[in-house]
Amino acid sequence: MERKFLEFISRASTSSLEDVASKTGMGLDQTRRALEWLKTKKLVATKLSSHTQIFLGPEGKRAASRGLPERRLVGLIQKKGEDLRMSELNRSLDSTKDEFSAAIGYARKKGWIITEKGSVKLKHPPKGSGEERLLKSLSSDSRSPLEMTEGERKAVSDLVERPGYLIQKSVKTIEVRATQAGKRAVKSIKSTREIDSLTPELLATRGWKKHKLRALDVEAPPPTLSPGKKHPVQRFIDEVREIFVSLGFEEIEGPIIQPSFWNFDALFTPQDHPARDIQDTFYLPSLLAKDVGHTGIVKAVAGVHQDGGSTGSTGWGYKWRIENARHVVLRTHTTSVTVKYLADHRDPEGRVFSVGRVFRNEKVTFKNLVEFYQIEGIVSGKTVNLRDMMGLLTTFYHKLGLKKVKFWPSYFPYTEPSLQSMVFNEDLGKWVELCGMGIFRPEVTQPLGVTNPVLAWGGGLERLVMLRHGVHDVRELYENDLRWLRRVALYQ
Ligand code: PHE
Repeated sequence: MERKFLEFISRASTSSLEDVASKTGMGLDQTRRALEWLKTKKLVATKLSSHTQIFLGPEGKRAASRGLPERRLVGLIQKKGEDLRMSELNRSLDSTKDEFSAAIGYARKKGWIITEKGSVKLKHPPKGSGEERLLKSLSSDSRSPLEMTEGERKAVSDLVERPGYLIQKSVKTIEVRATQAGKRAVKSIKSTREIDSLTPELLATRGWKKHKLRALDVEAPPPTLSPGKKHPVQRFIDEVREIFVSLGFEEIEGPIIQPSFWNFDALFTPQDHPARDIQDTFYLPSLLAKDVGHTGIVKAVAGVHQDGGSTGSTGWGYKWRIENARHVVLRTHTTSVTVKYLADHRDPEGRVFSVGRVFRNEKVTFKNLVEFYQIEGIVSGKTVNLRDMMGLLTTFYHKLGLKKVKFWPSYFPYTEPSLQSMVFNEDLGKWVELCGMGIFRPEVTQPLGVTNPVLAWGGGLERLVMLRHGVHDVRELYENDLRWLRRVALYQ
């Protein structure tokens, strides 16, 4: 393409891009591409120029096919005979009222007819006129006044006066010429014919030996493909699953709707805790859980809340009410799933995790959604300790590509000690909080019959996705802007 282009342009002095396309038969797109390549090699130079181009308007098109109104008028008179009444002509000429007056007006002005007391006579109508020739030539293609004769330009200035006849548009064209280097390069083109592809024939006949093979630019940008792919959040969830499984974890699941008992009470969260406040929690007011859990567990949970039961704790020191535990909520954290798992499996030893949606009645902002994912996990066993948990989470973050991790003291009603993990984000230049964790308090484990220490942690997933993809507004993850979805890398 470049060769064809260059060969043509070095002969043609300057030429418009359209001209190059039509004369070389390359098509406009190919020509443009060849132009860009030649330009970067400085073999051609371009100049942008603009000029006026004249097109037919809707009335002009009508006149080009049916004739000017005054021409049709004259034709009618010639057919019907001389000396006709204006009113009769008006009826017989197939035209609107305006067109008829235009026909009379222009025919008179041009001296084609004479009107006298309501009757019309022919004077000297010519066979054709400059305006009519112009209309005809414009009906096949637009034209530039620069390439018109004096007569044609006069016709333009007459027709422009009539509404809807002509449209003048400014058109930009790219003028191309070969540079000195381009002209020199042309000479060498002819002697080196290169081939692009090896055909079976070329191989069989050893014909390739006679040709020069075109070098491939392996750094040329490839075309962008946008095949269907999983949503980035879903891909990330899959990745998290892989990592946990590779660390010996098993996945657990639980319902999104929970009685307050499993979302709060079993986690030693007092019944007047602000997190239970209607502000943060979505209650489902039409539902009450009849049966919140095993009677023995409910009693024991009531006990630890009131006076600590046999845990040695003083509890919260208030009267625990089963009614409050019956209120059904959209789970505010996946820890409800974890604690229910502990209750169902008594004293498990091992590692489980879950990924699930949680809900919080907060204002939606660049960093908060009302519905989001949490990743949650526990490790239980006779000898597990806080250090194990920090090590485990550090490994987890490393596997996600987050290298700089630290832990910080924190507070949750259900763990002691409690920590939170943070990672350093180079992009933002600051530490970002990732998840909460700790060792479940006896007030949580004892009512469930769990005696081994249980390491537990949980945190938002979207924040990790944001760090991964450099997204600064969490809402963008769910906007499903196709441009972003297409661009976001599958692997990095
Ligand atoms: N449930 C806590 C949250 O939603 C996280 C957490 C889980 C903390 C387990 C400690 C133990 O932020």
